[in-house]
Amino acid sequence: QKPKIIVSAPLPADLRERVAAVCEIIDVPVGQNPAEAVPASVRPEVAGMVCTVRTRVDQALLDAFPALTVSSNFAVGFDNVDIEAATRRKVLICNTPGVLDGAVADVMIGLMLCLARNLVAGDAFVRSGAWTKGAFALTTDIRGKTLGLLGMGRIGKVVARTAQAFDMKVIYHNRREDPSVEGLAAYVGRDELFKSSDVLSVHIPLSAETRHSVGKREFGLMKPTAYLINTARGPVLDEAALIEALRAGTIAGAGLDVMEQEPLPPSSPLCELPNVVLQAHVGSATHETRRAMIDLAAANLLDALGGKTPQAMVNPQVWQARA
Ligand code: GLV
Ligand code: GLV
Repeated sequence: QKPKIIVSAPLPADLRERVAAVCEIIDVPVGQNPAEAVPASVRPEVAGMVCTVRTRVDQALLDAFPALTVSSNFAVGFDNVDIEAATRRKVLICNTPGVLDGAVADVMIGLMLCLARNLVAGDAFVRSGAWTKGAFALTTDIRGKTLGLLGMGRIGKVVARTAQAFDMKVIYHNRREDPSVEGLAAYVGRDELFKSSDVLSVHIPLSAETRHSVGKREFGLMKPTAYLINTARGPVLDEAALIEALRAGTIAGAGLDVMEQEPLPPSSPLCELPNVVLQAHVGSATHETRRAMIDLAAANLLDALGGKTPQAMVNPQVWQARA
């Protein structure tokens, strides 16, 4: 008998066929709570799951699926998962690192260019006919400026490499200095990072420790000409404090691909601020990257169910304990 798995992520037809050859698929619409969507009689038989970050893999879900052995995130981030609870219950958690670094870095660079060169307003300026009445206001160079990276993981490294092509000086702060980026980016203290950056970009995961870890104090350290960019997770920033800083001119602008509440309601003050460029959490949202992510997420799930070490495990100690 094939193991039953929950699929709560977009599975391309060809991949679905391959998965269905070895598993019995139970579809749960993306974002719906599997504990509610799956009948109680079936829940004890579910062995695996692939889901998006919109599914909360918490104690309640683990209790609802007592036979679950693996949950594979269709995302690199896993702030939707209570890792401690999953590890206690010996549920392996997988994710998709590595395959989306370039795509996320590209959105970060795009937001930086939009902010510094005012590209979004420039488009409206041309379309509205304002150009026929005068030239567009001058903007700001990024070349020669300092890019500060809070976090130096895989995505931060690609951003650092890309920024070199823009002749930017790259500095970073991380829990530890990373010898692998010597010559590419200079390690600085946390306060120094905020003080010295012309563009400050966030590349840390969301956790209890990082939630609201960039707030009023940090904005106060920044240059009034600096831009803040977030392509990581919204709640890493204290959004109310950010809005205040943007209104007060404490910093010059912000580029946000992620927010505290997603989808961002149009009533958010962020939508009223002219010095903000917004995107709909699209860092990894390209055909190529999403395909690579779902391929990896499915491979992680099938490997785990088949007894083969998955490529990307968040709590590998669970796997090691099984061996
Ligand atoms: C997307 O936000 C991801 O974590 O992959
Ligand atoms: C994501 O893979 C990161 O480590 O930044």
